[in-house]
Amino acid sequence: MTFPEGFLWGVATAAFQVEGSTTADGRSPSIWDAFCEREGAVANGDTGDPAADHYRRMPEDVALMRELGVGVYRFSVAWPRVRPDGGEVNPAGLDFYERLVDSLLEAGILPWPTLYHWDLPNALEERGGWANRDTAYRFADYAAAVLDRLGDRVRTWTTLNEPWCSAFLGYATGRHAPGRTEPESAVAAAHHLLLAHGLGADAVRSSASDSQVGITLNLFPVSAADPDSAEDREVARRVDGVQNRLFLDPVLRGRYPEDVFADLEPFGLRDVVREGDEDVIAGTDFLGVNYYRDLHVAATPEGEVRRPSEWVGVERVAFPKRGLPQTDSGWDVNAEPLTGLLVHLHTDYPRVPLYITENGVAYADVVGADGRVDDPDRIAFVEQHLRAAHRAIEQGVDLRGYFYWSLLDNFEWGEGYAKRFGLVHVDYGTQRRTPKASAAWYSRVMADNGLAGRE
Ligand code: FCB
Repeated sequence: MTFPEGFLWGVATAAFQVEGSTTADGRSPSIWDAFCEREGAVANGDTGDPAADHYRRMPEDVALMRELGVGVYRFSVAWPRVRPDGGEVNPAGLDFYERLVDSLLEAGILPWPTLYHWDLPNALEERGGWANRDTAYRFADYAAAVLDRLGDRVRTWTTLNEPWCSAFLGYATGRHAPGRTEPESAVAAAHHLLLAHGLGADAVRSSASDSQVGITLNLFPVSAADPDSAEDREVARRVDGVQNRLFLDPVLRGRYPEDVFADLEPFGLRDVVREGDEDVIAGTDFLGVNYYRDLHVAATPEGEVRRPSEWVGVERVAFPKRGLPQTDSGWDVNAEPLTGLLVHLHTDYPRVPLYITENGVAYADVVGADGRVDDPDRIAFVEQHLRAAHRAIEQGVDLRGYFYWSLLDNFEWGEGYAKRFGLVHVDYGTQRRTPKASAAWYSRVMADNGLAGRE
């Protein structure tokens, strides 16, 4: 099972999840620093420090990637380091990313930065956050500052990571920072994030016209538990609408899908979309797909209302069990729908190159008495997903790369440090890195451009 020539093999991280050093060199607090302060918001009272101490151990981590033979490193730039409090440019913050990019290039690793992976400067949240249209323009200013420093060395840029999470987990359910439970604000945030994508992409293009700029979405294939039930199908349509099409359609087709627009009108979508916005949002040079699982949904009986929902407008949703194996995050393991998702994106939307920018799994890994971390379940998980991705390529899908999430165990948002997604185990007491068995396995996959010698 060999992948096309030039297929990119990578690993991914995000600034707040790995860097630590949250007050170093002029960084200001982000919404995640503020959220971590709230009683009960994050498991075990964990915070963004020390995370994996990557801010200080970056050279060691780049050396580790080089040893593993990583081809491309997807990381994110922290807005509160670059423009603390959303204001003036902080050169010391940019220095870190310049050192990182230069180290990667020297190690023969392609840098793949994401401009926004959820760490909005908290000062901007105090001015309304993503519910405030102005934040999209502040994002463009921040993007311009990063481009100004790194635009000559980086060829591929990503504006946003998973805007659905920023909008709906952040402003509707409150499970993510900034922890607000205001469905209308979530809908406004979704639009302003999309606008930020468009404005940010323009900033990239005007500063580095020969680079590529894209967006990463977390896409979930959605199925109705009982396809014969009109109610289940309606829940599936709405969940798919808010989760996937609300983001895919404006970016790839230049307009909001009519049914989703109508579903979200009672929550103010029409009030925030201004003339010309959809033209600004439209366009991407590639699409990053983060795939962890699918969603199998049913309508709950009347009366059993789950609120607030992350799919604004969907009040009655249940997830019937299918007897699938589960990860440490409690997510079903189901690789198969990934094939259909990729084929759907390729055939039903205007063609853009696709990359799997995240796929991975948390298991309760432990360092054994022999000092090794054996994680056969992670190896099996990645192998299944690579097979599913390869089947899509066989069907003609233009899939150009795969990034494992994550290089290192790290701060898994509301779950804190309890969930380990890394190929490399991190002992948070000593910051000792121990590559797991999966790291050696993935290293072979990258070297062989696939699962060599296997069907
Ligand atoms: C994704 C996030 C990433 C990580 C993984 C497990 O939704 O983009 O930061 O937390 O989930």
